[in-house]
Amino acid sequence: MEILKCKDYADMSEKAAELIVNTINGLQKPVLGLATGSTPEGLYRNLIKAYKKNAVSFVNATTFNLDEYVGLREDDPNSYKYYMREKLFDAVDISVEHTHVPNGDTGNPEEECVRYEKQIRDAGYADLQVLGLGLNGHIGFNEPGSSFDTKTHTVDLDLSTRKANARFFDSLEQVPEQAITMGISTIMHGEKIVLLVSGINKADAVKKLVHGEITEEFPASVLQQHGNVIVIGDEAALSKL
Ligand code: GLP
Repeated sequence: MEILKCKDYADMSEKAAELIVNTINGLQKPVLGLATGSTPEGLYRNLIKAYKKNAVSFVNATTFNLDEYVGLREDDPNSYKYYMREKLFDAVDISVEHTHVPNGDTGNPEEECVRYEKQIRDAGYADLQVLGLGLNGHIGFNEPGSSFDTKTHTVDLDLSTRKANARFFDSLEQVPEQAITMGISTIMHGEKIVLLVSGINKADAVKKLVHGEITEEFPASVLQQHGNVIVIGDEAALSKL
């Protein structure tokens, strides 16, 4: 596992964007796996900047997002579909048909999971998968206890995850209780994985991810078994390594 230590959040975001721009420019039909949350926001700002400077085009790119809340309409400002449109898609030249986010606004989430997994598989999985890290070690929304064999599936969110994400909602009660997420096995199919971490509150989780036991109780530890992972973090997040 490669570790890239950055000065601060801005530096982390620039380094991550550079890596993604190089990946897009080096492939004819790049497939990107994308994440939401606070951490990648700076990365997306830098990708937009690069696009505006003509340093990159998304015309040939296809994207698959990691996860989506169940029960939110896609025009709900807290849906991950909305987040992606606002933070990246609407500002670059990617075609809407090439962007994929699980549909959480469905009466049949199980069917949606099967459909989504097939789409990713048919696209050959991600050339580059961006990940954030939950405080409890979740990646995507694969909570502790998730089997390493899972494909895209529906999950019950941990109370700790709902509390961590409540800052985006008016109240904890409004945070959905379920989500659709790529499974650990779907994520592990990615050719290269870039995990972004920022801030001292992630330091313990980063330590477990890099040096801890490989266990389903700490889902991110599975990344120790992947041959091509880079952790890009600021000094605070990497301070306990
Ligand atoms: C969320 C998302 C994850 C994200 C993680 C960390 O719940 N489902 O994909 O990586 O939690 O979020 P943040 O970057 O805001 O700390």
